[in-house]
Amino acid sequence: MYFDTHAHYDDEKFDENRDILIEEMHSNGVDYIINIGSDMESSVKSMELAKKYDFIYAAVGVHPHEVRDMTEADIERLREYSKYEKVVAIGEIGLDYYYDFSPRDKQKYWFERQLELAAELDLPVSIHSRDAAQETFDIIKNSRVRKGVIHAYSGSVEMARDYIDMGFYIGVGGVVTFKNAKKLIDVVRFAPMEKILLETDSPYLSPVPLRGTVNNSQNLKYVADKIGEIKQISPEKVCEITSQNAKVIFWQKKVVA
Ligand code: NI
Repeated sequence: MYFDTHAHYDDEKFDENRDILIEEMHSNGVDYIINIGSDMESSVKSMELAKKYDFIYAAVGVHPHEVRDMTEADIERLREYSKYEKVVAIGEIGLDYYYDFSPRDKQKYWFERQLELAAELDLPVSIHSRDAAQETFDIIKNSRVRKGVIHAYSGSVEMARDYIDMGFYIGVGGVVTFKNAKKLIDVVRFAPMEKILLETDSPYLSPVPLRGTVNNSQNLKYVADKIGEIKQISPEKVCEITSQNAKVIFWQKKVVA
């Protein structure tokens, strides 16, 4: 039923119950998960999870928070990692001008460099963007990458349209259930169902009514309910279409599930 296109089950918040939770989720309708790397170590851990569980896939990449010490040798490692058939994307990569944990010039440099790698490998990207909407868009537009997902999309309807026109998908998670989600609800109303992906960002961004708890992929139920309400279709239909979308974008390597 559910295809969670963005989760971090390597996170230490899952150290106590990771395997039990993953099995439980799978028996409760979580068909597929893409575990997303945020630095070199979590990229390796994402691949380990993909090797252990047939329904988990991996993305490898370095988050803007972590790029301050990135090197060209890391790019070579990511290139090596991508040879594993269950590595289905480069990510998460992008810009974060809210926290500024890495200097902005480094964020931009390694974002562009990882986009270049994705283009070369013909892989989709998972994009993180916070307080840097226009610059993120411009960098992607100037790159050769034309497939991927804007994770936890928080921009305007106009920008969503431009991303969709460029070949990108809109990642929608728990935020759509928040009280102050008006802008995102407008985006969901505007975007064709064929361009929306479900995601949790577990352990973060739990939906209402579970805000503040450790998130997991079963909570996509609340996201699917909300999108169904906005689009006036059943939550089952939301799951069916978004799962199909995820397969179209992430299974281009034609890996067998
Ligand atoms: Ni994330």
